[in-house]
Amino acid sequence: GLPEYIKIVEVGPRDGLQNEKMIVPTDTKIEFINQLSKTGLPAIEVTSFVSSKWVPQMADHKEVMSGIERHPGVQYPVLTPNLQGFHSAIAAGATEVSVFGAASESFSKMNINCSIEESMERFEEVTKSARNMNIPVRGYVSCALGCPYEGNVVPDKVAEVSKRLYSMGCYEISLGDTIGVGTPGSMKKMLEAVMKEIPLSALAVHCHDTYGQALANILTAIQSLNASRGKEKTEEPSLTRETQSPESHTYHDMGVAVVDSSVAGLGGCPYAKGATGNVATEDVIYMLNGLGINTMHHFLKTTPTFMFLSAFLNALSLLIT
Ligand code: HMG
Ligand code: MG
Repeated sequence: GLPEYIKIVEVGPRDGLQNEKMIVPTDTKIEFINQLSKTGLPAIEVTSFVSSKWVPQMADHKEVMSGIERHPGVQYPVLTPNLQGFHSAIAAGATEVSVFGAASESFSKMNINCSIEESMERFEEVTKSARNMNIPVRGYVSCALGCPYEGNVVPDKVAEVSKRLYSMGCYEISLGDTIGVGTPGSMKKMLEAVMKEIPLSALAVHCHDTYGQALANILTAIQSLNASRGKEKTEEPSLTRETQSPESHTYHDMGVAVVDSSVAGLGGCPYAKGATGNVATEDVIYMLNGLGINTMHHFLKTTPTFMFLSAFLNALSLLIT
C-alpha cells in the first residue's frame, strides 16, 4: 500500500540556495520563504548555521531566520553541524534543528571537516542541548546511495549511522542521495537495511535528480516494503487520512511517508561536485496527487494544487528578477 498522507519537507531555501553561484539577497530569501509558507507545505528548511567561510550563501542565516513570517503549524528547521551552530540558531529563534552526518568518511571530512565518529560526538552535544530545550532534532545521512569520493556506499553503513542518530534522539532520519546516483534497485536495498534498525515512521528520503532517478526512487521508497519489514509489520488496517497528521505519523502497510524536495528543483551540494538539484517539489506533488495521496498541510487540506503552483511561481519570479 501507499501512505494516504505524505509530508513534504521543502529544502529549496537551504539546499537550493546554498548552491547558487549568485548570492541571493537576504530580503529575497525572506520573501521566498514567506511565499512558500502560504502554499500549504508543512515544513520549510530555512537556512544553515554553518561557517560563512565554508558556505557564504548561508552567511545571512541569522537575518533570514529572524526575518521570516512563521505560519502556525508549519515547521521551520535549520541545519546545525555543531553546538556553536545550535546556539546561534536558537538565538535567532529556531524551534527545530537538523544535524547532518554521512555514511561516507571522505564526504564527512570534506563536508563538515571531521570523521563520522567525531561528527557523532558533536551531534550528541547538539541533541543533548536540544532535548533540554524541547527542540526537535532531525538527522540527515548523506551519501546513502553513493559518495562523490568513495563511490559505492554499503547499506549496512547507512543503517549503522542512521541508528546512531536515531538512538541519540533524532525524531526523523532523512536518507540523502546527495549526488543522485541511486536507482530504485539501490534505494530498495538501502531501505531494507535501514528498516531493520529503525522504524519506518521515522524515515524520510532526500533525493537529488542527477540521473533523472529521483521520482522513481521516491516511488520505490513510498511503496510498502512489507516483505522485508521487521519491526513494523502489522495486520491492522491502514489509518485514514483524517487520523493522520504531520504530527502523528502511524504507518502500517505502507512505505516511507516523508519526502524532501526543492521548488523548481533548485539545489546541489557545495561538497558534492556534480550533484544537480533536488527533486522538484511540484513534480513530487504532481506524482503524489496522481496517486491520490494528500500532501497539503492539515490546516489546508483542501488547497488545490494550482494554489500551490501559483504561490511557488511567485516565489520563483522573485529569484529571477
Ligand atoms: P571547522 O573549520 O572544522 O570548525 O568547520 P572549527 O570548530 O575548527 O572552527 C573553525 C572556525 O569556524 C571558527 O571561526 C569557528 O568559530 C567557526 P574562526 O575562529 O576561524 O573565525 N565555526 C562556525 N561558524 C559558524 N557556524 C558554525 C561554526 N562552527 C564553527 N556552526 C563546520 C566545521 C561544520 C562549521 C564547517 O565545516 C562548515 O561550516 N561546513 C559546511 C557544511 C555545509 O553546510 N554543507 C552543506 C550542507 S550538507 C548537504 O547539503 C547535504 C544534505 O542536503 C543531505 C544530502 O543531500 O545528502 C543535508
Ligand atoms: Mg541535499
